Amino acid sequence: MTDDRAAVPPTPDGSAVERPTHRLIHLSDTHLTEIGVKYNGVIDADAALATAAGLVRGALDAGVTIDAVIASGDLTDTGDPDAYRRLSTALGDLGLPVIWAVGNHDVRVTLHEQLLGRSDTEPVLQVHRIGGLRIVVLDSTVPGRGDGVLAADHLAALGDELATPADDGTVVVLHHAPLPAPSPLLEYFALHRASRAALRDAVADTDVRLVLAGHHHLARSGMLRQVPVAVAGSAAIRTDPLAPRGTERTVAAGSLNLVELFADGHAVSVIPFDEALGAGQAFHLDQAGTDAVIRRHLA
Ligand SMILES: [Fe+2]
Ligand SMILES: [Fe+2]
Repeated sequence: MTDDRAAVPPTPDGSAVERPTHRLIHLSDTHLTEIGVKYNGVIDADAALATAAGLVRGALDAGVTIDAVIASGDLTDTGDPDAYRRLSTALGDLGLPVIWAVGNHDVRVTLHEQLLGRSDTEPVLQVHRIGGLRIVVLDSTVPGRGDGVLAADHLAALGDELATPADDGTVVVLHHAPLPAPSPLLEYFALHRASRAALRDAVADTDVRLVLAGHHHLARSGMLRQVPVAVAGSAAIRTDPLAPRGTERTVAAGSLNLVELFADGHAVSVIPFDEALGAGQAFHLDQAGTDAVIRRHLA
């Protein structure tokens, strides 16, 4: 008796099945709070992180190859040192390289001390190698501010690094997404337009194949001229881009991105885990409430 299953071709045209050269977990905006404090008053950010880590652990246990975890900033909500240690444990226990970026809610010096083992007070350009793939991490934050800037010397350092191509190309990571924003608060707390343009110029005609970012609390994608940008949603909260104009509405919801790099391209899959968070509304600010948040920031 023949086994009919053995005769089933894996692809319709007989081509070889595509396998990624690198598989990355991209997590962002975990916003871990101090113990006993709920994020935005309603969200257990530690539970959201545990759910994300559990998904990765489940994949590893099932034999899925994952090369690294990238956490693209707003790792903590207020820079609590213990929150960084909990984060380091939760993701470090996966046994994978973990790459950390600074977000506007982080405290740069504390993050450097707790996660990078460094004492730098200024932005650090991190360069990581995963086989032939180079991952360059930028710091787009300005201490005490929610908006983002890429300083001229930081961009110059990026340019110096990119002058030499990597065997499998480069992925650039930063917190503030270099894309138009999905909501009024994020319009205000955006990467400055000049920095977005400078980054666009810095990565043009280099081996940069993908830019990964966070900050928008919404999985989205776009282009920085010819270079694709993939934004990971927050592990804990989601911006509603269809909220009434001028208002800011968010729900308790989490997701992570699976980034797969192939010899001649890439694919980014969004993996939601909303049910773990109850998926209720986190907050909804009307125009006056939105303006008040910006005004507080200006004070
Ligand atoms: Fe955030
Ligand atoms: Fe942010």
